[in-house]
Amino acid sequence: MNKTKPPAKPGNIQIPSTDQPTDSGRRKALLAGLGAAGGAAAAGLMTPSRALADPANLPPNVADWSKVLGPGVDVAPYGMPSKFEKTVIRRYVDWLTATPESSINFTPLYALDGMVTPNGLCFERHHGGVAEVIPDDYRLMIHGMVDRPLVFTYQDLKRFPPQSRFYFLECAANGGMEWRGAQLNGVQFTHGMVHCVQYTGVPLRTLLEEAGVKPKAKWLLVEGGDSAGMNRSLPLDKALDDCMVVYSMNGERLRAEQGYPIRLVVPGFEGNMWVKWLRRIEVGDGAWMAREETSKYTDLMPDGRARRFTWEMDAKSVITSPCPELPCKQKGPQVIKGIAWSGRGKIARVDVTVDGGRNWHQARLEDPILPKCLTRFYLDGWSWDGNPAYLQSRAIDETGYVQPEMAALQAVRGVNSIYHNNAIQTWRINPTGEVENVRLA
Ligand code: MTE
Ligand code: CO
Repeated sequence: MNKTKPPAKPGNIQIPSTDQPTDSGRRKALLAGLGAAGGAAAAGLMTPSRALADPANLPPNVADWSKVLGPGVDVAPYGMPSKFEKTVIRRYVDWLTATPESSINFTPLYALDGMVTPNGLCFERHHGGVAEVIPDDYRLMIHGMVDRPLVFTYQDLKRFPPQSRFYFLECAANGGMEWRGAQLNGVQFTHGMVHCVQYTGVPLRTLLEEAGVKPKAKWLLVEGGDSAGMNRSLPLDKALDDCMVVYSMNGERLRAEQGYPIRLVVPGFEGNMWVKWLRRIEVGDGAWMAREETSKYTDLMPDGRARRFTWEMDAKSVITSPCPELPCKQKGPQVIKGIAWSGRGKIARVDVTVDGGRNWHQARLEDPILPKCLTRFYLDGWSWDGNPAYLQSRAIDETGYVQPEMAALQAVRGVNSIYHNNAIQTWRINPTGEVENVRLA
């Protein structure tokens, strides 16, 4: 799939004149949500959470928490989120995999702001559970078609000049369950195999230069030290371009789940190639045809043949609010929020529709807009009138690639694929305010 239909011209949101949010109208709409049993509840909408408040804690009273000394410093030497946020966790789908060791859980995208994923909420994908690597015993071996085979310790790797870069990682299977129709009711499950963090480590190029790659070399085999010994072939060009061997994420050392003490970062490429607990890099002149690039991580096409080595993640986006986890609690102004990303560079534009694609509106992109990174977008100024609405977002990256509808994707790829589903997602807002995963095209 390259380009699909050209993006519609950006325009301003057409707000029906009766709903035009004049200043006083907007204030009224916001205030309606403040009442315990206001107009929203009368219309059958979900009760606004404000209705649950204890009046004793509300102004002009002095709230309970203002009357006592709080816990001192060091009660939590490693800080945790507020206990009121305890539902914001990674979640898994128990029928999806036979065992938790070879399984996946999902990032709670609906609960996150900006473009950085907190370390504790980065989705996990393991083929053989989390390896507990002892840092003193850790070694990275580089061998094969090199002048000097080398073995690095963890400390050796930290002595090289470091660099820090933000990148998204998306599992090629993200959205894989949605190929034949809308299935999972939650953005955490339909799109949550993606995270975006700031990595710190060494350019892979630096290590390869240290070993001296022989002129005829074209490929690397990168292998993990977990019980799955997961391995993939990586083209040398990519390795020398922007790959990194990293020890930190978001400023602290890698989490065990993310490959402590060392993982490979392969910007823009499918998550499977980002080998965790990296133990070995072999330099060679051909691809290894490993299990993960022949049996798995290939795309079965309509003619029965399979696409291989489909590494780059195509441009994609999704609305993270409203979504099934975040229903519309009241009519009136709603900020539509979402994320967009592309494995080919920067996000150039995101369009949003509230009427299933009849009219598209250009979203506001939030800085920083970095290559191969999540980009936050917003559509301000939409007012929900209580009627069914069909929300979609469509990403366009700096190469001009336009995120396709599922019908366009299926026209090329058929319905037997699992991987690389970057189709446009539709959320239907029901008159009750609940949000459902539906398929329009
Ligand atoms: N590396 C090793 N050694 N073992 C694995 O099971 N899973 C891969 C990749 N690297 C895996 C691995 C897959 S399929 C994905 S999508 C990413 O790691 C997931 O990275 P995360 O767990 O940090 O989200
Ligand atoms: Co994966």
